[in-house]
Amino acid sequence: MPTLSELQTPLVVLDAPAMTRNITRMAEAAAAGGKQLRPHGKTHKSGWVAAQQVAAGAVGLTCAKPAEAEVFAAAGIQDIRIAYPISPTYAARIVALMDGVRISTVVDDLGVAQGWSDAMVAAGRRLEVLVKIDVGTHRCGIDPTQRDAVAFITQVSQMPGLDLRGLLSHAGHSYAAGSLDAIAAIARDEAAMLARLVDGCAARGVELAEVSVGSTPSALFSATLDGITELRPGNYVFHDRTQVGLGVVDWSGCALRIHASVTAFPAPDRLVLDCGSKVLSSDGARGFGPTPGFGVILGPDGQPDPGLLIERLSEEHGVVTVTGPTRLRIGDRVTIVPNHACVVANLSNTYVVADGDEVLETQKVDARGLVN
Ligand SMILES: Cc1ncc(COP(=O)(O)O)c(C=O)c1O
Repeated sequence: MPTLSELQTPLVVLDAPAMTRNITRMAEAAAAGGKQLRPHGKTHKSGWVAAQQVAAGAVGLTCAKPAEAEVFAAAGIQDIRIAYPISPTYAARIVALMDGVRISTVVDDLGVAQGWSDAMVAAGRRLEVLVKIDVGTHRCGIDPTQRDAVAFITQVSQMPGLDLRGLLSHAGHSYAAGSLDAIAAIARDEAAMLARLVDGCAARGVELAEVSVGSTPSALFSATLDGITELRPGNYVFHDRTQVGLGVVDWSGCALRIHASVTAFPAPDRLVLDCGSKVLSSDGARGFGPTPGFGVILGPDGQPDPGLLIERLSEEHGVVTVTGPTRLRIGDRVTIVPNHACVVANLSNTYVVADGDEVLETQKVDARGLVN
């Protein structure tokens, strides 16, 4: 096997020791808090990574699309939750999945829930569902501050084709928080809101077995909170510049890295890398402070090189502004921590799995690009 530095760039590299540490740390936190862990596969999109998460104690996997569920089922994952309000037009594929694996999804609309119930009655099945609650992200889900969520949940519980398991939320607004204390407060508010709904439902005779939450910034806080039964972080498996910016992890915890080469150095203050938006994506980063640029170039010490800023991207070019003395010359290699690991994974066919410069294996990104 060639070494990493012998392979052509750009490469999407998984640092195996860092990924294993990330998987273990979250599994231990979930176990210590008495929560089940169901990582979101949106980050890695890989049956190989999912199997390691399950081996470390995860009960199964989360995904967003039926096609992802199909890939993870084929990879041997037994319990899959589609945490996205999918349409009942997918019923035939969901029924087919039910023959091999345990499958659940979410609902946040009575018409859609009724559609699923009707489809399941027609198929002679019952579909496990959770009601998606909007705890502040204001994306989808029932917002209990705007409408009677207990009434909604009660109506879903009465639909014959559905087996109501509980509540599910995603505190995506944790990414806009200004401090770790603010992230902890978001996790506490989420748990309190969900607990009030569980109590309200119990008062109406509707028992909810599961309360599923999950975002990487809030997950370690949620692990310690009462009333929650399940954590669904996704990004934690790789981490990225955003997680560093939010104080979740340091650079050594970023398991997904881009290895790129300097292909041009046309001016003293500008060099070009062979990774543009086709590799890095054009996503920005989040954090407590400013996060300019399209990823961070690490120096030989594993810390950001302060003299290099990936200022703009075209498809094949990462244009770097050089603001200080640099060791780099054409042909030299750099290591980049991307702003957002999940979207980088979705752009690549292959992971190169490495330990330092040693290539351990290559792995296909099985579920990349699957949008339905
Ligand atoms: C519904 C849902 N659950 C869990 C997650 C995982 O969150 P994170 O990417 O912060 O780990 C996401 C991410 O978008 C999500 O949409």
